[in-house]
Amino acid sequence: MESAVLFLSILVLGRAAVIPNECKITEVLNDKLQYEKRLMYMSDYFPLDYKFLVKHEEVLRCQNITNLRNQGIPVKELRYLWGIVNERILFKMKSALPGRHPSLQYVTDLAAIFKELLKIRQQVSNEIILGILTRLKVPNDVADRKPVRPKALLDNCFKVLHELHREDCSLSNPRSDFLNDTSHQCIDMFD
Ligand SMILES: *[C@@H]1O[C@H](CO)[C@@H](O)[C@H](O)[C@H]1NC(C)=O
Repeated sequence: MESAVLFLSILVLGRAAVIPNECKITEVLNDKLQYEKRLMYMSDYFPLDYKFLVKHEEVLRCQNITNLRNQGIPVKELRYLWGIVNERILFKMKSALPGRHPSLQYVTDLAAIFKELLKIRQQVSNEIILGILTRLKVPNDVADRKPVRPKALLDNCFKVLHELHREDCSLSNPRSDFLNDTSHQCIDMFD
């Protein structure tokens, strides 16, 4: 009996880690970032070898998340970092695209969703995350930037979205149904 109560309260505490509104927003993102859309807006509508120049810290891949987790950084701080990095990337894309580019609306919509999401959590205290956030803001030399394909940027965005929210927000990914889903590992399985 007692252990059942304890178990339940742990469950409740665990759930409280994600605010319901946050899950709703991540579901919208999950839908907007499905493979077909990434392919159309981030690949089909761009020249074959088109690349955006981004800072090294603007490349946030599954491997980064695994490394940061191994350093004991709480998931809520990683969610915040992911939000900030992707808001920046989308803003960058938005300002690089000409006004009538067919992907502009898509990028604008995504940027607005990230803005909403970032209203939810604004606190970070981990030194490592604070360090990355500082490096993100400091202007750097263009020569220091990394050329990355637009779709690769949003593929990372999508994979990390799943890695950080899949369990708490029960996100679905139709394309993973026919792949061997190794649920907990952050591996590149969504391409
Ligand atoms: C992710 O890892 C790459 C390669 O190690 C690094 O250049 C980049 O800065 C990392 N991104 C973040 C946000 O820490």
